[in-house]
Amino acid sequence: MNHFFVYPFSGRRFFWAMGATLLILAIPAARVQAQQPTPKVDTASAENVEKGKRNFVTYVCSACHGYSGQGTERGPRLDTNRIPFPAFARYVRQPAGSMPRYGTQKQISDSALADIYAFLKSVPPPPDPKSIPLLNDD
Ligand code: HEC
Repeated sequence: MNHFFVYPFSGRRFFWAMGATLLILAIPAARVQAQQPTPKVDTASAENVEKGKRNFVTYVCSACHGYSGQGTERGPRLDTNRIPFPAFARYVRQPAGSMPRYGTQKQISDSALADIYAFLKSVPPPPDPKSIPLLNDD
């Protein structure tokens, strides 16, 4: 009755056995693929900056923080010189104030966040108030 163990590698059973084996091997491989790559913030390219600029609008950050992260009445200026990337990402995942939470990779992926950070870093800093004559006219 139990021919499977007698002829394990023949005919249709072979087909099913191989199918099952491949499936078992494929599941962990797919899991590894689904993991996010570690974002490389320091080696951001012009492409990362461009994507980050788009992400900043797509993920609605710009609605509160302004199109270049300069800040609005709804959200503060995002200063990448003051906030390193890990702290930046941590805040977005777990905000402490009134900012909405982007808690999961589905809401925003680490790499989308890294691109946003690269974009914000590419924005020139605001001018020093001392360099603006009108503000030093007393
Ligand atoms: C609905 C408005 C709103 C949206 C949308 C929003 N933020 Fe914020 N964000 C805030 C406010 C307000 C704060 C100030 C702290 C608080 O109340 O949570 C803040 C704070 C932050 C901080 C901490 C700043 C600091 O100086 O410590 C970071 C980083 C940040 N936001 C990034 C983002 C990013 C990236 C996105 C988009 C993925 C985003 N925010 C979307 C309102 C918003």
